[in-house]
Amino acid sequence: GSKVTTATFRNMKQEKRPVTMLTVYDYPMAKMLDAAGIDALLVGDSLGNVVLGYDSTIPVTMDDMVHHVKAVCRGVQKAMVVADMPFLSYHLSRETAVKNAGRFLQEAGAQAVKLEGGIEVCENVRAIVNAGIPVMGHLGLTPQSVHQMGGYKVQGKDETAAEKLLSDANALVQAGVFSIVLECVPVPLAKLVTESVPVTTIGIGAGPFCDGQVLVTHDMLDIYGNKAPKFVKRFASLYQIIMDALSAYKEEVQNGSFPSAEYGFSMSNDVLEKIKG
Ligand code: KIV
Ligand code: NA
Repeated sequence: GSKVTTATFRNMKQEKRPVTMLTVYDYPMAKMLDAAGIDALLVGDSLGNVVLGYDSTIPVTMDDMVHHVKAVCRGVQKAMVVADMPFLSYHLSRETAVKNAGRFLQEAGAQAVKLEGGIEVCENVRAIVNAGIPVMGHLGLTPQSVHQMGGYKVQGKDETAAEKLLSDANALVQAGVFSIVLECVPVPLAKLVTESVPVTTIGIGAGPFCDGQVLVTHDMLDIYGNKAPKFVKRFASLYQIIMDALSAYKEEVQNGSFPSAEYGFSMSNDVLEKIKG
């Protein structure tokens, strides 16, 4: 099929067909998600937590992101690849924001960028959009602001916060975003935003009324065997499968049953005798 684009997103909202998005950070997983027909692949700055072992997204750099977006794009034919702009890469000036966003399309091969925040980032969002780069917004729980939020928790529960979220969504639309991620937002507020804006909302921990859904792939596949947030459904338990395979390998090498004859290469006895002299 043909490439998923911002026009596909618009049509899907109109036709009320849910957009599927998942995170991805490398080539093998990108190939699998694309083959499975997932509409959009997000190279999230969750890279920091999920793949690089940091305890937040704050240490992630532009160079880290570009490296992984490149690997992902090599594995994708159909899905839209969205690159997450890391901490401080879109705040300093319109110029650096456009330059950094541009790297993801020009150097790495992504089709869109995502960035966190509302009214405060709209001037730079407009500049990026004006350069021809599709922008996905991100409201609610915005992990790059973890120190300001005072932890990872549901956002938009009280009247002030809910009103702020709705006006941020409208400001992002005015600035030209084609889509908005809503993370850890109460179900009724996510529904209201989705009905209020003309662009595609994509929820994570934001209920069933968004125009699409996203999850961290490593969470939904349970690759780490850790405790997951409330909104994560485990669609598989890969941790146990991988640990069982590792134990079996260790056991078979230690007891000599691997590698058995079928895994070895033969050679002619003549050659062997000659080299023995
Ligand atoms: O970085 C990320 O994985 C994200 C999603 C959770 C939306 O921003
Ligand atoms: Na992110």
